[in-house]
Amino acid sequence: MKRRDFTRVCTSIVIAAGSQPAMLMAETTKVSYQPCLLQSDSSGALRADEIVVGEPYLFFYPFVTTPCLLIDTGKAITTSADSEWHGGVGPTQSIVAYSAICSHKMSHPAKEISFINYRHDPISYYSQDKGKSVEQAGLISCCSERSVYDPSQGAKVLGGPAPHPLAAIELQYDDANGQIQAMGSYGADMYDRFFDKFGFRASMEHKISDPKTLSTKTVSVVKLSDYTRQTIKC
Ligand code: FES
Repeated sequence: MKRRDFTRVCTSIVIAAGSQPAMLMAETTKVSYQPCLLQSDSSGALRADEIVVGEPYLFFYPFVTTPCLLIDTGKAITTSADSEWHGGVGPTQSIVAYSAICSHKMSHPAKEISFINYRHDPISYYSQDKGKSVEQAGLISCCSERSVYDPSQGAKVLGGPAPHPLAAIELQYDDANGQIQAMGSYGADMYDRFFDKFGFRASMEHKISDPKTLSTKTVSVVKLSDYTRQTIKC
């Protein structure tokens, strides 16, 4: 199935998240892809209560080569009623997922190394809002050029050169069995640019001829630390 065959809902809402260009959320675009059940390697379908708070996990969606971070932030993440993105899922609305392709120069987790990571512990960064260095916990950090995103605010850019938030992955939680499905993607995704620049390498890493192959039905979730040999922290 080709990407154009999927439902594309473009709401064309520009949300001002601040006064500086880097703080403007990109055009809010929802793209629905095939629902995929998140699975753990060991026990079949992954239940929300198996996700360790503060531990970054990795899965590949909506394409088999495009990485996403899955995080239980440990706190409820809610949004306004008119927001396209619905915030956190799970028993306490604390679980979110984002594309792990940095919006600056597309640094992303690979088997050898990852410069992008979720940091549950406090990190220091230069705040664009506050105009000074601050310490904050619970952030996604890309150590390539020190972009910082807030997963509790739709991966809003807090610092560094990233031009827009990470794409948010739409998750659907089933409170009857605790399972989670990935349903689509919100915001400015980097997928086409990612394939142009990294498609060949991603094909080699995932041993697949077409890096644009869509994820189908189930996707495996692993700890980021189990996937990548070296995670850079800054
Ligand atoms: S690629 Fe992430 S900050 Fe440059």
